[in-house]
Amino acid sequence: MDAHLFVLAALATSLFSSRSYPSVMSRYSFLLLAALLPVALSQLAGTNTAENHPALTWQKCTGTGGTSCTTQSASIVLDANWRWLHQGTNGFTNCYTGNTWNTTACPDGKTCAANCALDGADYSGTYGISTSGNALTLKFVTDSQQPNIGSRVYLMAPGSTTEYQTFNYENQEFCTTEHLILNGRRFDVDVSQLPCGLNGALYFSQMDADGGVAKSNGANKAGPKYGTGYCDSQCPRDIKFINGVANSAGWTASPNDTNAGTGTMGTCCPEMDVWEANKISAAYTPHPCSILGQSTCTGTSCSAANSTQGTCDQAGCDFNSYRMGDTTFYGPGMTVDTSQKFTVVTQFIGSPITEIKRFYVQNGNVIANSQSQISGVTGNSITDSFCAAQKTAFGDTNTFASKGGLGVMSQASAAGMVLVMSIWDDHAADMLWLDAPYPPNKSASSPGVTRGTCSPSSGAPSDVESASANAQVIYSNIKFGSLNSTFSGTPGGGSTTTSNPGGGSTTTTSTPPGNTGSCAAQYAQCGGSPWSGPTCCVSPFSCKAISPPYYSQCL
Ligand SMILES: *[C@@H]1O[C@H](CO)[C@@H](O)[C@H](O)[C@H]1NC(C)=O
Ligand SMILES: *[C@@H]1O[C@H](CO)[C@@H](O)[C@H](O)[C@H]1NC(C)=O
Ligand SMILES: *[C@@H]1O[C@H](CO)[C@@H](O)[C@H](O)[C@H]1NC(C)=O
Ligand SMILES: *[C@@H]1O[C@H](CO)[C@@H](O)[C@H](O)[C@H]1NC(C)=O
Ligand SMILES: *[C@@H]1O[C@H](CO)[C@@H](O)[C@H](O)[C@H]1NC(C)=O
Repeated sequence: MDAHLFVLAALATSLFSSRSYPSVMSRYSFLLLAALLPVALSQLAGTNTAENHPALTWQKCTGTGGTSCTTQSASIVLDANWRWLHQGTNGFTNCYTGNTWNTTACPDGKTCAANCALDGADYSGTYGISTSGNALTLKFVTDSQQPNIGSRVYLMAPGSTTEYQTFNYENQEFCTTEHLILNGRRFDVDVSQLPCGLNGALYFSQMDADGGVAKSNGANKAGPKYGTGYCDSQCPRDIKFINGVANSAGWTASPNDTNAGTGTMGTCCPEMDVWEANKISAAYTPHPCSILGQSTCTGTSCSAANSTQGTCDQAGCDFNSYRMGDTTFYGPGMTVDTSQKFTVVTQFIGSPITEIKRFYVQNGNVIANSQSQISGVTGNSITDSFCAAQKTAFGDTNTFASKGGLGVMSQASAAGMVLVMSIWDDHAADMLWLDAPYPPNKSASSPGVTRGTCSPSSGAPSDVESASANAQVIYSNIKFGSLNSTFSGTPGGGSTTTSNPGGGSTTTTSTPPGNTGSCAAQYAQCGGSPWSGPTCCVSPFSCKAISPPYYSQCL
């Protein structure tokens, strides 16, 4: 009974959502028999549609308060799996239709790569992806002739069409103060249109910056310009090409996703989920692996019961405020009001990283993350000890620790990780692991089972894709830099703000977090061991022992 298995299955099946190009194109197949003749043994770049990466700016910051930032002019690229895959660079016969490969073009993975080309993307028309200045919009379902569902894009290096941007904490450490690895990541997110069952995700994967071109020994001619090289901690097996070899061997079409399937190979790498969310629930989750960088897996090295034999920690160590016991912190009209825009700040503290902290900024207020209210688990940030306590409290196997915990996340960071942004629904577990009771066969009231207010019957892709076709996520104002360099606001927004259901929020004071004169503010700590701060609460709140003897809070 492991939540792990479900969580991993959920991500494994869904991070892909492979797209094939409208199959109507295959009607032009008579045009090109010649296309089948391999010119060179390589995965090709198609030329039917010019590939133009949508521009996106982001900022590198120093100092404090988001005032010393320099703008980087970069762009984003659509992942290869969503692209039209056809025979020959300028052919029109599909290599992959729906969820099956053309066995003539693809008798084996190498021949398939030599015969098949990834084509350029019509970003807004086909995929519902658009950018404007520093904002990226990802639409869930497009109105195109053949609706596209979900998408996944990567940030390119500034001015480059052939290399992904990597985020490397060593560089950060170099130009900033001590104890900093991947610090001060900040972005504004608008999830107000994302209901149950959807996931707007922003995360880092330790993909190769060259999209796997070097590892392909010349077989991958498409590269980052066409979004190749994806990997993550679920070791997904739906990826169509891995290091220049098609995953067509042993491909099994998904029984419940007309666009996806799985091959015998999976592609693994450490993953830092900075943000996985809809308007009901949110989580941030590091996932270490026993192998650093991209690695190719088969069988149980891809995934196994409760992650123990798999290459990666598929479950991860998640901080989801609702799951951690604060049911009024994140959601529409709540402390972090998801019916409005807000800013998410994630701090990676220490070299190596010892703690990952979360702040929100909304309406000028800096809101500290919610505190755990689970018996035996203290704190409002991810540390190795928080994860150990959480796994014990929830009865989960601690594969986060067995795959190396925060130490491995630090090493992955040092090597550089690629920024991924996506919107997706979940063909394996209906996203219940994010926003509802999960797994279904455990009591919803058992510790760690309920993750949000969505119904256990919500989130089926068929429902979500019809009822929430217009959903979208907008990521804007991405900043990266030293600790405290990317944001400003009135401290203590979460601690000193009273939420009026339906009436927005009222800032009652602007004193530092958790301290209003001699008594602690709402949600602030007011006791525990060790604790030397105030032990009384401002009116009308009272000091409640949340996790005795360690933590009491004003509620
Ligand atoms: C819950 O379901 C999982 C997967 O089907 C199974 O392995 C586990 O034994 C079940 N647990 C209970 C308590 O029924
Ligand atoms: C598969 O590819 C071959 C060779 O190009 C082509 O003749 C055939 O029509 C294709 N099959 C489908 C179903 O597209
Ligand atoms: C999970 O892993 C532990 C440790 O390897 C093992 O003892 C346990 O049986 C596993 N549980 C399941 C459900 O596979
Ligand atoms: C969809 O199919 C996958 C296998 O490809 C399976 O693991 C998953 O449970 C299925 N999901 C649903 C909701 O039926
Ligand atoms: C960031 O700001 C917080 C709150 O003001 C402070 O506690 C922390 O020490 C600062 N960190 C750095 C590295 O300046």
